[in-house]
Amino acid sequence: MASPSSRKQYDVVIIGAGAAGLMCALTAGGRGRRVLVLDHANKVGKKILMSGGGRCNFTNIHSGPEHFLSANPHFPKSALSRYTPWQFIALVEKHGIPYHEKKLGQLFCDRSSKDIVRLLLDECRAVGVEVRTHTPVTDLRVGTPHTLTTPQGPVACKSLVVATGGYSIPKMGATGFGFDLARSLGLPVEPTRAALVPVTLDARKLRQLKDLAGVSLDTVTHAQGSSFRENILFTHRGLSGPAILQASSYWQPGEPLEIDLFPDRALVEHIERMRRERPRLRLKNLLGEQLTRRVAQRWCELWVPDKRLEQLTGEDMDRVRQACQPWTVWPDGTEGYRTAEVTLGGVGTDALSSKTMACRDYPGLYFIGEVVDVTGHLGGHNFQWAWASGHAAGQHV
Ligand code: FDA
Repeated sequence: MASPSSRKQYDVVIIGAGAAGLMCALTAGGRGRRVLVLDHANKVGKKILMSGGGRCNFTNIHSGPEHFLSANPHFPKSALSRYTPWQFIALVEKHGIPYHEKKLGQLFCDRSSKDIVRLLLDECRAVGVEVRTHTPVTDLRVGTPHTLTTPQGPVACKSLVVATGGYSIPKMGATGFGFDLARSLGLPVEPTRAALVPVTLDARKLRQLKDLAGVSLDTVTHAQGSSFRENILFTHRGLSGPAILQASSYWQPGEPLEIDLFPDRALVEHIERMRRERPRLRLKNLLGEQLTRRVAQRWCELWVPDKRLEQLTGEDMDRVRQACQPWTVWPDGTEGYRTAEVTLGGVGTDALSSKTMACRDYPGLYFIGEVVDVTGHLGGHNFQWAWASGHAAGQHV
């Protein structure tokens, strides 16, 4: 270990130059703290860059605690209430970044996610934050001070912030660093799994549905008591689309997803009504008005009879209901961290202060962002958590 005099001293070292780490850095730097941000990747904010299809859904104007999963659902309330979407929007406007609401309060950059990374780096630069990429931490001692070894030499700090995110998209540089560190210190880590992730179907189901890949349908998708009014998308591996991604955070292996393919109407009543008005209409054509022609055709081949409405029996009606309202699907898994937007679970909130994100048992140690057991719904909530938790710690370090 390097001697104390050879170590570079900082007030704050942040491991992870993603959304949460950079927000923490610019907040702490703005308070006059000497801040170093380290990242092992070759550039900062890689997930910001790839987010929102390259346009970064940077917040959601409706974001509130009800949009988050955690073993303690009360935990995110404090940080979220002290850094609201409007505060981040003010920052976006200060930097003249054009943006728009896509739907459901989701705000996206008009141009590119690069605008958000530039904003964060400009703010960091303005307050003297030092950001180093290509810098893995090869040794870390939590203490007073905390000491870190890096290929560029040893550093020491009073406050150490872990902002290393979760496991999702390993090829972008994601690691379990934060989880491993927490475990090594005896801190609780809630079981982790891929979330906001497409689900996969078994080979038989895929054979039935594979040529529907690319078709999307408006649904209400239910999993474990939660429901989402959004589109599903058929894929070559199974199902995706916003409704499925949202439901995946609640879905448990071995459980079904229940997908209401007619979210605006009671289907059987609708068929009865149409039977009176247009008795010779074929069921496939009626279903096709909502399900697209391709899906209706396939449903008739697989599960429901393509008869004229006047010919449908009570038994046929039961089959239609079972195939559509809801359509019950049994995923055989998910696509995993390779494509997941986030990691569910993480550093247990019991170990942390909800106000400052500081670790109760280790003075001057903080966990922020996705590494913590707080996971947002799709639609800008995960970045809002990164900003809010980064800001909370940045005000305290
Ligand atoms: P983040 O993962 O952003 O940053 C962690 C940083 O730590 C990385 O820079 C990494 O290189 C670094 N690191 C990891 N291990 C390290 C180690 N051992 N040593 C040093 N550095 C290390 N959310 C949202 O709200 N709106 C959206 O539009 C999207 N879109 C989206 C698309 C895709 C494809 C993905 C994968 C994710 C999203 N998300 C999203 C989720 C969002 O990107 C995510 O919740 C935040 O980036 C989390 O921010 P963090 O700063 O906590 O981690």
